[in-house]
Amino acid sequence: MLPSNTYNMLHCFCGLVYLSALLAFATLTGAQSESLLQLDPQRVVVRYGDSVEVNCSTSVLHKGMGWEASQGGVSMTRNQSLITWRVSELTEWDIKPVCYINLIDSNQSLVHLPVTIYKTPDSVFISTVNHRGPMTEGQQYELQCDVHNVAPVQNLTVKWYKGQTLLNQTTFTDTIKTPVNKTVTLLIGPDRADDGAQYWCEAELDLGAEGPQRHPTNSSKPFNVEVYYKPKHSSSTETIIQDDKVMLDCTVKANPASTYTWDHLKEKSSSPVLKSSALSPGNYTCTATNTLGRDSKVFIVKSKYTDRTTFWAIVLTGVVVAVALIAAYLIFKFRFSKNSVI
Ligand SMILES: *[C@@H]1O[C@H](CO)[C@@H](O)[C@H](O)[C@H]1NC(C)=O
Ligand SMILES: *[C@@H]1O[C@H](CO)[C@@H](O)[C@H](O)[C@H]1NC(C)=O
Ligand SMILES: *[C@@H]1O[C@H](CO)[C@@H](O)[C@H](O)[C@H]1NC(C)=O
Ligand SMILES: *[C@@H]1O[C@H](CO)[C@@H](O)[C@H](O)[C@H]1NC(C)=O
Ligand SMILES: *[C@@H]1O[C@H](CO)[C@@H](O)[C@H](O)[C@H]1NC(C)=O
Ligand SMILES: *[C@@H]1O[C@H](CO)[C@@H](O)[C@H](O)[C@H]1NC(C)=O
Ligand SMILES: *[C@@H]1O[C@H](CO)[C@@H](O)[C@H](O)[C@H]1NC(C)=O
Ligand SMILES: *[C@@H]1O[C@H](CO)[C@@H](O)[C@H](O)[C@H]1NC(C)=O
Repeated sequence: MLPSNTYNMLHCFCGLVYLSALLAFATLTGAQSESLLQLDPQRVVVRYGDSVEVNCSTSVLHKGMGWEASQGGVSMTRNQSLITWRVSELTEWDIKPVCYINLIDSNQSLVHLPVTIYKTPDSVFISTVNHRGPMTEGQQYELQCDVHNVAPVQNLTVKWYKGQTLLNQTTFTDTIKTPVNKTVTLLIGPDRADDGAQYWCEAELDLGAEGPQRHPTNSSKPFNVEVYYKPKHSSSTETIIQDDKVMLDCTVKANPASTYTWDHLKEKSSSPVLKSSALSPGNYTCTATNTLGRDSKVFIVKSKYTDRTTFWAIVLTGVVVAVALIAAYLIFKFRFSKNSVI
């Protein structure tokens, strides 16, 4: 309880006016209070329901000093130069502790203790908005992250991840101190590479230098997306030289899986692979189809004959070179022996 003139003030004005008066007074005498009263620590960050302890000390003679607070207040004491504000379970979200001193000249000085009370969320929940089941490539979807019962929202960051990749993050400007619920959404346009990807969101509290250096973090469960996409071959044609064991492989990724058809005079098959020892040269078109679309690929099978021509060309070149070398050697040897005879 505050003494003398301040005591009267308490009764004259309502709480709000009193508080602003205190604030104005503290600002006016700011420089003076700093030298008269020392807080240790100067500000605190406390988890809701945890204990807290702050010392207020002075080096000047006084007529009394004390702590004014809605929890853990210390009534005025005359015979001490250090008083401790101590709460074993801090549960007052709006607490504004003030340490005051009554000076010999009847003036009063005071200092506010900034307190941040935080609470990690009860749950972090991820879901989709207006959608269930597999997503389709090329379309947009909305993911939603619900963060329940967290404080203070000013220090909250909600982050979106795909696997280990950070996609986006949101901070809040509300100054409310009590716990709130927050909903954040993320727009995604998944492609075939995202089939099987895991999305998740995370609520992180960054409470500054006085807060825990390991930021309290709570994550949602991973959300697995399944993406439907149509077949698409990496190249639309492929040339193959006819061989003893020709194999045409039309396999292509798609979700749901493709069915296959082969358009050729003789060949009809539903297998993605055409394997035959008796494939005649020509074009073989395969079409992969799923519920979203289709994609064709042409295999141009070329005659082995082209290959033989090359083989004989190489052999012929080799023979010609060999003959030329032998001829050169013989000519050289012939001239050399002629010279040595002379
Ligand atoms: C407050 O002061 C007391 C006595 O000097 C000391 O034991 C205690 O550790 C101090 N507490 C803080 C939070 O500084
Ligand atoms: C201060 O005075 C109170 C009684 O008013 C007494 O209980 C306390 O022990 C005294 N403390 C010191 C340090 O003298
Ligand atoms: C006491 O307060 C009055 C007005 O607030 C100021 O004029 C005066 O200088 C103060 N006295 C001391 C010793 O600080
Ligand atoms: C990230 O989210 C904000 C809204 O919180 C939005 O304005 C911004 O476009 C998003 N950025 C990306 C890259 O998605
Ligand atoms: C947050 O959501 C919970 C559950 O839906 C509800 O009980 C609570 O009242 C909400 N809190 C606020 C501050 O809206
Ligand atoms: C987070 O909390 C700390 C301690 O209360 C405060 O100093 C800081 O400004 C806050 N950070 C943000 C980004 O609001
Ligand atoms: C949230 O994370 C904190 C630590 O960062 C942990 O102590 C707490 O139990 C978590 N809450 C939930 C609901 O998992
Ligand atoms: C096979 O396809 C190639 C390239 O698409 C084309 O030039 C050629 O005329 C086709 N051959 C036959 C027999 O259709």
